[in-house]
Amino acid sequence: MDKNLYAEHIATLRNRYDAILEECGYDTLNVFSGAPKVQFLDDNHYPFKANPQFKALVPVTDNPHSWVIYRRGQKPRLLFYRPVDFWHYVPPAPDTFWSDHYDFELLGKPADAKAFLGDDSSLGKTAFIGEIQGLDGWPIGIPNPEALIARLHWARAYKTPYEMACLREANRIAVGAHRAAEGAFRDGASEFEINMAYLGAAGQGENRMPYGNIVALNSHAAILHYTHLSTERLPEANLKSFLIDAGADCHGYAADITRSYAYRNGDYAELIRAMDEMQQGLVAQMQVGLAYPDLHRDCHLKVAEILQRFGVIATSPESAVESGISRTFLPHGLGHFLGLQVHDVGGHQTAPEGGTTPPPAEYPFLRTTRTIEAGQVFTIEPGLYFIDSLLAELKDSPLAKEVNWNKVDAFRPYGGVRIEDNVIVHPDRVENMTRDCYAE
Ligand code: GLY
Ligand code: MN
Ligand code: MN
Repeated sequence: MDKNLYAEHIATLRNRYDAILEECGYDTLNVFSGAPKVQFLDDNHYPFKANPQFKALVPVTDNPHSWVIYRRGQKPRLLFYRPVDFWHYVPPAPDTFWSDHYDFELLGKPADAKAFLGDDSSLGKTAFIGEIQGLDGWPIGIPNPEALIARLHWARAYKTPYEMACLREANRIAVGAHRAAEGAFRDGASEFEINMAYLGAAGQGENRMPYGNIVALNSHAAILHYTHLSTERLPEANLKSFLIDAGADCHGYAADITRSYAYRNGDYAELIRAMDEMQQGLVAQMQVGLAYPDLHRDCHLKVAEILQRFGVIATSPESAVESGISRTFLPHGLGHFLGLQVHDVGGHQTAPEGGTTPPPAEYPFLRTTRTIEAGQVFTIEPGLYFIDSLLAELKDSPLAKEVNWNKVDAFRPYGGVRIEDNVIVHPDRVENMTRDCYAE
């Protein structure tokens, strides 16, 4: 990664943190990376996931018991955990594109951090962000103040050029892996084998993936978060469809990409083409000042148009949206913020100080109610599914007569379609990182 980009990034962050800390009345912020969690009645740990507010400050994603000590106006200090440990890998002290911007202390034991966190005189002006279990009696400061966290979350929606570069690289890695996964699907691999092909091509293990990979053959594509990974190889005659929703990591930033494939030509292949074209239309509509929920509503109308065009519904698209039929086929939201977390924070936040703008009552799963602004990064992921449980409810309702059930039954074995890209909103254009990687 480019050193200059990081230098500019940390300068921007320091301005943000200085202003936010001052506004909230703090001199110091202690951010804890976290401690590994032991499994119940066991001596094994769950995979370690760093506190997102820790990796927001420093690109260290795999080191527990580490701290950033941020004093207003001063170069930040990193307490980097380096125990003497013959059981586990101990990462070397960082010497890389970002390390010049931190003063380092190496910690041999977790409790060595205490000496650096603060003293009684400063604790009233010190905030702490992290999980507090195990830190009883430590001089950490005021734990997780809401007003401070709200402002930091709000700021994270506006990505710096360094963050955009990380997100582009995560997309590049993920797109290469998606290509390998499609190849494995066409070769008749099982879901498990396709996932192995994906991880191998990404060069990242499953604990590094930003979320559990969704690798779904045939009707499994109707399960929105299907992560089961069946080892069964389907006979070629039974291969119908493949939906894969999988990302990659770059310095703690996530890609979140979905593609759908038809094994053969036919109605389902046409449905994918229609959804793909529609998805690109939605991306083209994005612009600064547009309310994201309005784009979501428009997506429902377009999905309803597709349902009508394919003969699935026998009613106008407008009435299918109005009656709620479109929600049977698209029960999730159009997309979400993307960044250090796959569902990045702040999507429902009303203002820097906090407050929540809930999604419209009819679309409870919409993850962003914000107005689109420059510097924000979103997914755009329309879907259209044939989900047995939701279809059963519809069939039991007075709206059943507006549906062509023969068509529904013909599509059921294919599960559904989702197309998901990752986009950056610039002041004058929208950059589709995912499509740019496919075009390379
Ligand atoms: N991969 C989860 C999502 O698309 O939101
Ligand atoms: Mn996804
Ligand atoms: Mn997503």
